[in-house]
Amino acid sequence: MDYRRTYIKGLFALPAGTATVAYGWVKTRRDSKGISFVQINDGSCFKDLQVIVNEGTIDAETLKKITTGACVRFDGVIVDSPAAGQAVEMQASGVELFGPADPLSYPLQKKGATMEFLREIAHLRARGNTFGAVYRVRNEAAWAVHKFFQDRGFLYLNTPIITASDAEGAGAMFQVTTAVETAHGEYKLRTNEAAQDFFGKPAFLTVSGQLEAETVALGMTNVYTFGPTFRAENSSTSRHLAEFWMVEPEMAFCDIEGNMNLAEEFLREVIGHLLTKSEEDLAFFNQRIEPQLLATLKHVVDSSFERMGYGEAIKMLEQSGETFEFPVHWGVDLQSEHERWLTEVKVGRPVILTDYPKEIKAFYMRQNDDGKTVRAMDVLAPRIGEIIGGSQREERLDVLESRIQELGLPMEAYWWYLDLRRFGSAPHSGFGLGFERLLMYCTGMKNIRDVIPFHRTPGHAEF
Ligand code: 4AD
Ligand code: MG
Repeated sequence: MDYRRTYIKGLFALPAGTATVAYGWVKTRRDSKGISFVQINDGSCFKDLQVIVNEGTIDAETLKKITTGACVRFDGVIVDSPAAGQAVEMQASGVELFGPADPLSYPLQKKGATMEFLREIAHLRARGNTFGAVYRVRNEAAWAVHKFFQDRGFLYLNTPIITASDAEGAGAMFQVTTAVETAHGEYKLRTNEAAQDFFGKPAFLTVSGQLEAETVALGMTNVYTFGPTFRAENSSTSRHLAEFWMVEPEMAFCDIEGNMNLAEEFLREVIGHLLTKSEEDLAFFNQRIEPQLLATLKHVVDSSFERMGYGEAIKMLEQSGETFEFPVHWGVDLQSEHERWLTEVKVGRPVILTDYPKEIKAFYMRQNDDGKTVRAMDVLAPRIGEIIGGSQREERLDVLESRIQELGLPMEAYWWYLDLRRFGSAPHSGFGLGFERLLMYCTGMKNIRDVIPFHRTPGHAEF
């Protein structure tokens, strides 16, 4: 046995008459008039391979155990298929049963299982149609992300997962410590002195690789990260994870205009890539999950995003005549209901909002001359709300220092970040794309927990 063999995806391309083998997991078995029809899938494509087993070809005891969930290898010949929806099928001549799956206890037995139920058996859901498709699209999108940046000469960079700095200044961080001992489920305090902790000071899981990415961009020009980020926000919404993946490009000699152009080009290209490379999976999502999906994605690829200032957006929301749960006025942070109204009702496609009040944005964003707003840019998408958050960065040492002071952030902790402004500073910009939010957008899946193989949310760290 070797990985170098033909996946089921490849078997469909073989000419009738070819003898071959097929490995996979049984989706269903149906018996009719001395013939068993077994659908198997190995995850390589959406479509199952239909295997025809004539009575007497394989031992009856083994055939009985070829039920939903069982793992098998069939030997046989590719033949033209009389069935609709498939050009070829396999005529079996032999079988090896690797692992049976007792029909009475196999959890993935039922058709029409809810997403909530499937989430509880996330260790088995890769075998179903929906999650097979989600994981393939996730893989294809990750590839498209790298391709986009590599084609443009960006340097792929890995930033630390454990860090001492709070990049967003929002304090929603998980602490990393060896100051508590755990044994047999009991916690014991080893020390409460930060200096005696593993790193000699408080350390956390990163909320963003941006600050470190800036250090390399200001030396190597265009870089990007693509890695896990962690946020201890206690929000159990359908759009928040405690562990999610972020794509963060950072560019020297780039202002907010260039930043917006890149974000737009990036989303359009990744979505365009999926429309061609994940056609079969997207067709499934369009049919079963989100009826407007393909039309929406095609529309995004073909049209430019609407760009408007935060102030203008607030005026529109105020004049919308809608009653929002969270009232709107200049200065408020936009809630998902506002973002959705703007993108879905008002504009009907993604919107890039700029120039937010500085009070609701991070300390590192470049201040505008009005003294009130910063060069922030958020990309909002219909159904999802914020999908990208970014900005032009404050490159002026004195302005940045006074902002850190104003916010009461610990100046000494940012010594290296300030050094970048002390030595060879340059105008620069970047953004962060929430990879799972992008996947929600591209698959139509309604809950962010269902576009990552194993979700981390408040109260949930199973598997
Ligand atoms: O807007 P955010 O907080 O921006 C940053 O972290 C910047 N440092 C990025 C940068 O400029 N390099 O987060 C960026 C994106 C959001 O737009 C959203 O898509 C996603 O990350 N995101 C989350 N996704 C899932 N679960 C969460 N809890 C998320 N928080 C943010
Ligand atoms: Mg944001």
